[in-house]
Amino acid sequence: MDSALPENSRAMNEKNLKLVQQCLKQFDVTEKQLRQIQAAILQDMEQALSRQTDPSPTVQMLPTYVRSTPHGTEQGNFLVLELGTSGATLRVLWVTLRGTTGPRKEPVSWEFTIPTEITLGTGQQLFDFAAGCLVEFLDRLKVGSQPIQLGFNFSFPCHQTGLDQSTLISWTKGFRCSGVEGQDVVQLLREAIQRQGAYNIDVVAVVNDTVGTMMSCDPRPQACEIGLVVDTGTNACYMEEARHVGELGEDQGRVCVNVQWGSFGDSGALEPVQTPFDLQLDQESLNPGTQRFEKMVGGLYLGELVRLVLIHLAGQRALFGGVTSPALLTRGSVHIEHVMEIEDPSHGRARAQAVLQGLGLNPSAQDYEQVQQVCGAVSARAARLCAAALTAILARVKSNQERSHLGVAVATGGRVYEQHPRFSTILQQTVRLLAPDSDTTFVPSEDGGGWGVAVVTAVASRLALHRHHLEETLAPFRLDSEQLKAVQAEMREAMVRGLQGEDSTLPMLPTYVCATPDGTERGDFLALDLGGTNFRVLWVKVGSRSEGGVKITNQVFSIPESVTQGTGQQLFDHIVDCIVDFQKEHGLSGQTLPLGFTFSFPCKQVGLDQGILLSWTKGFKASDCEGQDVVSLLRAAIRRRQGVELNVVAIVNDTVGTMMSCGYEDPHCEVGLIVGTGTNACYMEELCNVSAVPGDKGRMCINMEWGAFGDDGLLKELCTPFDISVDKSSINPGKQRFEKLISGMYLGEIVRQILLHLTCLGVLFRGQVFQCLQTKDIFKTKFLSEIESDLQRRQVRAILEKLGLPVSCDDALMVREVCQAVSQRAAKLCGAGVAAVVEKIRENRGLEELSVAVGVDGTLYKLHPHFSDQVKDTVRHLAPRCSVRFLQSEDGSGKGAALVTAVACRLAGSTRP
Ligand code: G6P
Ligand code: BGC
Ligand code: BGC
Repeated sequence: MDSALPENSRAMNEKNLKLVQQCLKQFDVTEKQLRQIQAAILQDMEQALSRQTDPSPTVQMLPTYVRSTPHGTEQGNFLVLELGTSGATLRVLWVTLRGTTGPRKEPVSWEFTIPTEITLGTGQQLFDFAAGCLVEFLDRLKVGSQPIQLGFNFSFPCHQTGLDQSTLISWTKGFRCSGVEGQDVVQLLREAIQRQGAYNIDVVAVVNDTVGTMMSCDPRPQACEIGLVVDTGTNACYMEEARHVGELGEDQGRVCVNVQWGSFGDSGALEPVQTPFDLQLDQESLNPGTQRFEKMVGGLYLGELVRLVLIHLAGQRALFGGVTSPALLTRGSVHIEHVMEIEDPSHGRARAQAVLQGLGLNPSAQDYEQVQQVCGAVSARAARLCAAALTAILARVKSNQERSHLGVAVATGGRVYEQHPRFSTILQQTVRLLAPDSDTTFVPSEDGGGWGVAVVTAVASRLALHRHHLEETLAPFRLDSEQLKAVQAEMREAMVRGLQGEDSTLPMLPTYVCATPDGTERGDFLALDLGGTNFRVLWVKVGSRSEGGVKITNQVFSIPESVTQGTGQQLFDHIVDCIVDFQKEHGLSGQTLPLGFTFSFPCKQVGLDQGILLSWTKGFKASDCEGQDVVSLLRAAIRRRQGVELNVVAIVNDTVGTMMSCGYEDPHCEVGLIVGTGTNACYMEELCNVSAVPGDKGRMCINMEWGAFGDDGLLKELCTPFDISVDKSSINPGKQRFEKLISGMYLGEIVRQILLHLTCLGVLFRGQVFQCLQTKDIFKTKFLSEIESDLQRRQVRAILEKLGLPVSCDDALMVREVCQAVSQRAAKLCGAGVAAVVEKIRENRGLEELSVAVGVDGTLYKLHPHFSDQVKDTVRHLAPRCSVRFLQSEDGSGKGAALVTAVACRLAGSTRP
C-alpha cells in the first residue's frame, strides 16, 4: 500500500480493498465445490447417454457420427466454413490434406465479420451471408468450376442423425436468427449455396467446433481423444464407447460425443457457486435460464461479468470513487479482449488504464490493481469450473478404458484458452488437482479446428462416396410397384398358358389332389418329406378331433451331398434305409402302412402315385432320375431291400402337403406356399381350366413350379449382375430363375457377391478382398435373418468376424443394408406371385371379393424377421380385392402327405387303397 499517501486516503484504500476482496470472495469456488460440480456433470453425462429423462440431465451428450480419431491418411482439398466459434465472425478455409505424404500445408483462410442485424435476423439472411462469403473467397482463390466438398463447422447444439444431417436445437452465444431452430442446418446452407448458383459445392459434413479441434490434432504420437473449446462459448467433446450412447443402438466401436456442457446447471446445479452478478447477467442475456455454465466460463460473458462487478463496486464507492460512465453502464461494453489485456502479466496495468479510460472512467492507480483482481477472479473461476467439467470427462474416459491410470491427450482451442494469459495454466493446475491419476497432455489445435473439419469432411466424403456406391449397387433391388405389377401380370399370363399346355415357364402341374381333408380321415400312415433342408420320415396317426386329431412322430435324417449328387439308386436306397431305421426306432417294422411321399421337386403327375421328375432343383442332381417316375424308383429301392414292405399311395409336392396340412385346420386354405431352400406355390384351380386333365367339374390342386418362372428370360430386366453370377455358378444355370431371386439356397450367395463387389470398390472392409469373401456359399442365408433381426448389429459383427472379416461400424451398417435389399426384393417378388394366384382364384370364381387362406412353410419365410410381413404387404397392395390369411404350417408337409394319402384311402373306401 502506498505509504506516501495521506492517512485518510490510505484508510479509504484499505476499506475499498476489503470491499473488493469481500466481493471477489464470491468467485472463489472451493475444491469441494469443484469436486461436487465434477460429480454432478459426470452424473448428468451418464444420464444423458442412457437417455434418462427424470431428472432430465442438463448436458446434452449429442452423438456426432465421427467414429474414429484421424488416421492421417485423409487426402484432398476441402472447403471449410466456420460459423459461431468466435463470436460474430465467420471464417472460410481452403484446406489441403496430404495424407501421410509430406508436411501439413498451411490452410488459406479468410475471416468475415457478421453484422449484428444478421446474427439477430432471419436464418435465410444468415445462410445467404455465409454463402456469399464462400463465393467471395472462392472467387479470390480462383478454384475454377471443380466440384468442391465443404465441411461446415457449426458451433451450436445440434441433434445429428448423420455426418451431414444436423438439426439446430437452440441458438447460443448471441445468435438468435429466426426460422433455424429445429431445422437441418446443412439443408439451409445447401439451399443458400444453390441460391448463389456460383460454385458446385457439396456440403458433406457438419461438425461442432470441439470435434474439429479434436480432429485437428496430429495423431502422432498420440491421437487426441478429447476436444476442448473456450472461446465466445465453451464446450467439449470426447470419444465415447458407442454401446454407451443409447440413441445409436450400437454395441461396438466408438463415437465422438459433443457434450454441450454449456447448458450444465440449467436446472440449478450451479446455484451454490453463482453470484448475484451471474444471475443478473443471465436475466439480461438473450437466453435467460439457459447456458448457465457457459455464462460463467465463455468469453462472451466474462467481460460482462467483470462489468457488472465493476458497476457494483463503483456503487459501493470501492472503485472509481463511485463514479461510473455511460459506457460502463452499457451492456456488453467490456469484452473478453479487455479482460485478457488487463490480466496481461507485463502490460496489464497499462492496458487496464487504456480500457477503463476507453470506457470513459477516471480510474485511480489503485483502481487498476483492483480491476485486475476483478478480472483475475472472474477468469480464474471460469478456468477452475472448466477444469472441473473437463475432469468429469477424464473420469468417464478412464472408466471406459477400465484403467486405474489414464494417459490422454486433450486438443484445446478457442481464444480464451489460447490467448488468456492465465486461463490455460489455472485450468491445467486444477485438472491435476481434481484428477491426479490422469496423465493429461494438452495439445493446442492448429488453426482452430479448420484442419479437423477438413479431416472429418474427408472421412464424410469417403463415406458419402461409399453410400453412393452402395445405393447404386442396391438400387436395382428396390422394386417399385410398377415392376411388381408387371411380374404379377406376367405370371398370370404364364399360368394360363401353362394350364392350357401352351409354351410357358410355369409347368402348372396337375397333382390329382381334388379335395381337401373333410375331417373324416382316420388311420396310421407313413410319410416321407424330401426336398427341404431336412429329409424326414413321419408316422402320422389321424384320429377324430376328440381323439386329438392328427398325431405325428417324425425323425430327421441327413442326406449327404454325395447322395444328393450321386446316383438315383443311391438316393432311393438311402431313403429306404432311413425308413427302415425309423420303423425299427418306432416299433413299426413289418407293418405296411400307407405311405405319402412329399417329393419337393417338379414332377409331372399322371396319377396320385405316379410322378415323373422333370428336373432336379435345389442342389439335387442324382443321376438317372429325371424323366423317371420317382414312385417307381422308390418302390424299386424297397424291392431291393429284402423284407421291407411299403405301400406308396401318394406322391405330393411340399406345397400341396403344406396346403393340405393347413387345410385340415382351415378349410379355406386353398393355396400352398413354400419359401425355404426353394420356393413354389400350388392352389386349387377349376378343373375346366386344366387342359391336361379331362373333366370340367370341381377343382384340382395345381403345382405351379413357379421357381422356373422367367427361365425364358422374362425376368431379365430384374436380374442384376450378381443374380447372373449366382445362376452361372449354380448346378442348374439358366434354370429356376424366379427361385434364384427368392429362395434360401441363393440369397446368401447373392449377398456374398454384392459384398465382394463393394469390397472391390473399396466401400467395405477398407477394400481388402479377404479369401473368405471369395468362397462360394460361405455366406449362409440364415445370416440374413440373424443380421436383419438384430438392431444392435451385434450379429453382423459376430457373423463377419467369425468369417474372418475385420468389421467397422460403417461396414456393419452397409452389410445389413445389403441383406435388407436382397431379402426385401425376394419377399416382394414372392408377394407378386401370391397376388397373381389369389387374383386368379377370385376371377375363376367371378367374385368381387375373395377371402382365402394360404398355407405356408419354409425356413426363410418362418425365420426371417421381416420376410412374411413384406410378402403380406405386397399381396395387400397388388391384390386389394383379396383378403388373404397366411397360415404357418406347424407340422410341415409330411402331415399333408399323410392326409392326401388318407383322403385317397377314404375315397378308395379303405385305409388300404
Ligand atoms: C417344411 C416342409 C417340407 C418343405 C420345407 C421347405 O419342412 O415339411 O416339405 O420342403 O419346409 O422349407 P426348407 O426351408 O426346409 O427348404
Ligand atoms: C455451443 C457449442 C460450441 C461452444 C464453443 C456453445 O455455445 O453450444 O456447440 O461448441 O459454444 O463454441
Ligand atoms: C421345387 C418345388 C418345391 C420348392 C420348394 C423347388 O425347387 O422345384 O417342387 O416345391 O422347391 O421346396
